[in-house]
Amino acid sequence: MEPKDRIIVALDVDRPERAIELVQQLAPHVGCFKLGLEFMNAMLVRLATYAWEPSQNDLRALQRLFVELDDRIFWDGKFMDIPNTVAGASKPVAGLGIRMFNVHCLGGSEMMKAALAAAEEMKIISPTGMRPLVIGVTILTSLDFSDLVELGIMKHLDIQDRDELHQAIRSRTETCVLNLACLAQEAGLDGVIASPQEIWPIRKFCQAGFKIVTPGVRPAWAEANDQKRVMTPGEAVKAGADYLVIGRPITKAENPVDAAKRIADEIADSKKG
Ligand code: C5P
Repeated sequence: MEPKDRIIVALDVDRPERAIELVQQLAPHVGCFKLGLEFMNAMLVRLATYAWEPSQNDLRALQRLFVELDDRIFWDGKFMDIPNTVAGASKPVAGLGIRMFNVHCLGGSEMMKAALAAAEEMKIISPTGMRPLVIGVTILTSLDFSDLVELGIMKHLDIQDRDELHQAIRSRTETCVLNLACLAQEAGLDGVIASPQEIWPIRKFCQAGFKIVTPGVRPAWAEANDQKRVMTPGEAVKAGADYLVIGRPITKAENPVDAAKRIADEIADSKKG
C-alpha cells in the first residue's frame, strides 16, 4: 500500500458541492473519503425538504458526488440495532461497491455477523465484485472511564493513590477495547476503529491482517482542535495503524493538497525509520 492510500479524509461538510470540490482536489493524493452521519443526515433532510420543489439541484449534486468518489468511500454509519435491521442497513451500502463501512461492536456478535453476511451477499451486485471491509467501532473515544462506570460496563474503582488509579483506569479501558476488538475478530469482521492509544495492544493481540483504522491523528504542524489524545500520522502508522482518518488538518488547510502530501510524506518517512 502506498503511503497516501492510508489516508482517509473525513468529509465533514454539509454541502455536496463542497464535498465534490474536495474530492476532485484530493483524489490523486489520498486513499479514501469518509462520509459520516452528519453529512448523510444533512443530505437526506435536504432531499426530503426539496422533494416537492421543481429544483432537484441537491439531488443532482449528491449523485455527482458518488460518481466522483467512485468506490473510495468509507461509509461511517456506525450501525447498531437488532441483527435483522443492521443486515437491512448494510445491504444497500455494501451493494454500492464501497471500500468499507462500520458497525458498533457493542451491538454483539450476532449483529456483527449479520452485517458481514449482508455485505457478502451483496458481492454479486457490487460494481467492484468485492465486499466492503466491515469495521467494528469499539468504545467511542468520547467516552471516558466514568462514562463506562455510569453505563455499567465497568465497576467503580476504590483506589486512593492517584497514579495507581490512573494506571488501573488505563489498563481496564484498554482491556475493554481489546475484548471488543477480539469479539469483532471472532465474528469475522475485518478490523476495528481504534484511538491512537489502543493501536498497540490490538496490533499485539489480534491476528495479522486485522485492520486498524485510527482517528485523532494530528500532524505536528496542525491544530489539535477538539481531539484530546492525538498522535502524529508517523507515530500512528509506526504503532500499527493501517488507515488514518483525518479531517480538518486537510479539509480546513489553506492548501488541502499540500497538507495531504505532507502527511503522505510523513507516513513514508515513518516507514523508513
Ligand atoms: O477533523 P478531524 O481530523 O478531527 O476528524 C476526525 C473524524 O473522525 C471526524 O469525522 C470524527 O467524527 C471521526 N471520529 C473521531 N473519533 C472517533 C470516531 C470517529 O474523531 N473515535
